[in-house]
Formats: sequence, C-alpha cells, structure tokens
Amino acid sequence: MTPEDLPRLLDEALTAIQQADSLDDLEQLRIRFLGRKGKLPEIMAALKLAPPDQKRAFGQGANQYKQGVTQALEEAKQSCESSSSPANALDVTLPGFSPPQGGNHPIRQIMIRISQIFDRIGFTVATGPDIETVFNNFDALNTPADHPSRDEQDTFYLEDGRLLRTQTSPIQIRYMQENPPPVRIIAPGRAYRRDTPDATHSATFHQVEGLYVAEKVSMADLKGDLTYFAREILGPGVKTRFRPHFFPFTEPSVEVDFTCHVCKGKGCRVCKNSGWIEIAGAGMVDPDVFRSVGYDPDAVTGYAFGMGLERIAMILLEIDDIRRLYDNDLRFLRQFA
Ligand code: PHE
Repeated sequence: MTPEDLPRLLDEALTAIQQADSLDDLEQLRIRFLGRKGKLPEIMAALKLAPPDQKRAFGQGANQYKQGVTQALEEAKQSCESSSSPANALDVTLPGFSPPQGGNHPIRQIMIRISQIFDRIGFTVATGPDIETVFNNFDALNTPADHPSRDEQDTFYLEDGRLLRTQTSPIQIRYMQENPPPVRIIAPGRAYRRDTPDATHSATFHQVEGLYVAEKVSMADLKGDLTYFAREILGPGVKTRFRPHFFPFTEPSVEVDFTCHVCKGKGCRVCKNSGWIEIAGAGMVDPDVFRSVGYDPDAVTGYAFGMGLERIAMILLEIDDIRRLYDNDLRFLRQFA
C-alpha cells in the first residue's frame, strides 16, 4: 500500500456509507472501515513499514481517511435517526390540508336571491349574449335612431356594427322571438355603458330584467309583484313608490323607489334625506315592441322592469364603492363568502 491508495480507500468508504439506509448497516460499515479487524489497522500497519521519505504523506493520508470516515458515519447516523424517529414519521390519521374554498361573488349571490324570489311567483330565468345586434338592443325596443343612448358617447360599438348590450332588455326581445305568449321571465346579466368609473358608476355592471306577458296584464300586476319583491329582498316593512317616467319600450313608464333601508323612510345621508331609494325602471310593454317580435298587441299586454344588481348589492351588503365589486380583492370578497 502506498500513500496514493488512501484517497481511493476513503472514496470507497464514503460511497458505501452514503448507500447505507439503516443504523445496522452503518454499524457494519464502521466495523469494516474503522474497526480493529478492518481497513484502518491495515493502513496503520502499512504506515509503520513505509520508507522514511513516504511516512509524512502516509500519515496525512491516514488521518484524512480516519476523519473523513468518522465524520461521514456520524452524519449518516444522525439523518437515519431523525427520519425514523416517531415524531417525524408520517401520521396517516392526521386530517389532510384542504385547499382554500371558493365562494360566490356578492353580485352572483344577489342574482341568486333575486332569481329565487321571482321563482316563487312563477318566473323562470332567461339569458342572452353580451354582444348584441343594434336591432335587439335598440330598434326592437322602440328606441329611435336619434335617441341619445345610441350615441357612440354612450354605447360601445364593435367594428362589425354590433355592440355590447347597454341593458338586459334585448333578452326579452330574444325570448319573445322564440317563445309564444304567455311569458314570465327574469333575465339577469351584464350590461355595458361608456361611463366614467366612480363610487356609483362602472362601465360594466349587472341588471335583472323582468317580463310578464299574458292576456290582461295590468299596471296593478306590476305594482303588486314589485312590492312583493321589495318586501322579500329588504323586509316586510318596506314601502314602494311608482313615479311617472319615460322609457322608449314601455308606456306608461315608471321609476320604482323603495323606502330607504337605513332610515326606514325618515330621511338620512344614504337616501339624501328623501326617505326613498330608486331601485328599478318599469312600465307596460309598448305595443311597438310586441309588433317587432311578432306578438299581437290586441291579444296580450305585459309589464317589464329592469334594475341594477350593484345598487341592490351595495344596499344589502353595505358596500360604499361600486369599484370594490370588481377589484377582486380577496380580503373584501371573503367578508361575503
Ligand atoms: N332597460 C332600462 C334601463 O336600463 C330599465 C327598464 C327595463 C325600464 C324594463 C323599463 C322596463 O334603464
């Protein structure tokens, strides 16, 4: 044996130690590499016999071997012990980690609530696409070409001449084109207008449209059903008020107010001291709308209403800025999950 053999012997020992995977194996290796009948005494014997000019290098190599093997054994022993200790063993009876649970966005929660309220009086849910034709969004709804809402300042037009619907009312057009009367639907969905965002405006928002068409539907039905809705969504004490208004697709038209949920009608900051909150636009379906979808205005009458979901969500959930509904800040959304 020469000093040059020692690094190879050390290498062999280290490789064997690395591959060992139990304390028993490691003990066997300790005996083989460091024990009284193992490699180390052999090396020491060779050192004794070495010629004087090799003694120094031999001694250093032997030391490195002994230290290297001792240290590697020690480390391997420790890692073997820690991974087999009961504290670190896998406990299969522990509950698993569950991924975070999602929840419905406040707007969808309100949408579901409103759908349920109208479901109880026989309304089904209808939907339509966000991209609409000018016909469905305006013409069929009796909105003339010179009406200000058709202006490019107010409406997002696409290059192909279609538009992002400015209201959910085109859904009633689609539904009536495809279904004969009677009709009793609500149509929730997203609408778009060129509005500058602020605390109460957003260029995209949600509406629910309602449409009831049958023989002899009257304004009394509209008032009764919306009053029922007001009490279901805000509580039994709520009163409703119907103010004359104008919409191209209804005649007569009204705006519908509910008593302020905060001051119960007494007047406060939220209702600007009026005691009322404006909730919906509504009216009796204009005969021209019936004609545009092929219904006979002499055979049926109907009412329609439309309201903003954000407004209702903000009232019910006490949200002070509409933009919070679109930021997708989980700290905000989790409050309503
Ligand atoms: N579409 C109207 C709006 O967006 C609301 C409305 C719907 C009014 C149905 C009357 C009837 O303002």
